[in-house]
Amino acid sequence: MRLDKLVAELTGMTRSQARDVIVKGRVCVNGEVKKTTAEQVKEEGDVLTLDGKTLTFQKFVYYMLNKPAGTVSATQDREAKTVLSLLSAEDKKRRNLFPVGRLDKDTEGLLLLTDDGMLSHQLISPKKHADKLYFAKLAREITEEDITVFASGMRVDEELTAMPAVLRRLSEPELEGFLPGGGVAAAVTLHEGKFHQVKRMFAATGNEVLYLKRMAMGGVCLDETLAPGEYRSLTEEELQTLQESVRSEG
Ligand code: URA
Repeated sequence: MRLDKLVAELTGMTRSQARDVIVKGRVCVNGEVKKTTAEQVKEEGDVLTLDGKTLTFQKFVYYMLNKPAGTVSATQDREAKTVLSLLSAEDKKRRNLFPVGRLDKDTEGLLLLTDDGMLSHQLISPKKHADKLYFAKLAREITEEDITVFASGMRVDEELTAMPAVLRRLSEPELEGFLPGGGVAAAVTLHEGKFHQVKRMFAATGNEVLYLKRMAMGGVCLDETLAPGEYRSLTEEELQTLQESVRSEG
């Protein structure tokens, strides 16, 4: 594997950050400074250090993707482009990666990709209730009544009863970041993830979701420096937050 790729995977840095620390001579392979980002290294066998600190190999990989609209959260699809098609050739070949849960084709934002089946299962398990935060562009302003209805749990339609959810207005900076051109929006935090759940909950209150973006999951926030379609490894800290989010919920 390329040195810059491995440093990125082991540290959670982006590829360009990894290249930067390599060219600055901060990375050693088996005790020797290596400044060539394309240098081939062995994931298991070579010992890498950054600023003298040993980087250890992770059994699994954990990525956050800023999912663009128009891609499906599946490993394969006959017609549409899948989120896996956004991965580098190296990641496509090497890893048995899959998305953690689903976002609709037109939904954007945080989608975790991993090859850790156990953590993925826990994150989407209804028993664990990992929080998911969405920002929604709406057809009309939310009311105090909508907030109460979301908070008390609602019968959405014939098939769906939703658990209590937190609906709130966006702060000014949040709104400015989310809809720079202006518009009506709200934030909703769910503890479950049923099919089209956010859209159906708003529809049940006579509203309409015009655009939906997931901002956070299990306490991990979307890195807003990732353009739609870009991804990076989770940092150690983000991974711990995710693991704790499922542990603490029992
Ligand atoms: N709720 C929806 O309606 N769509 C999504 O993609 C995610 C949650």
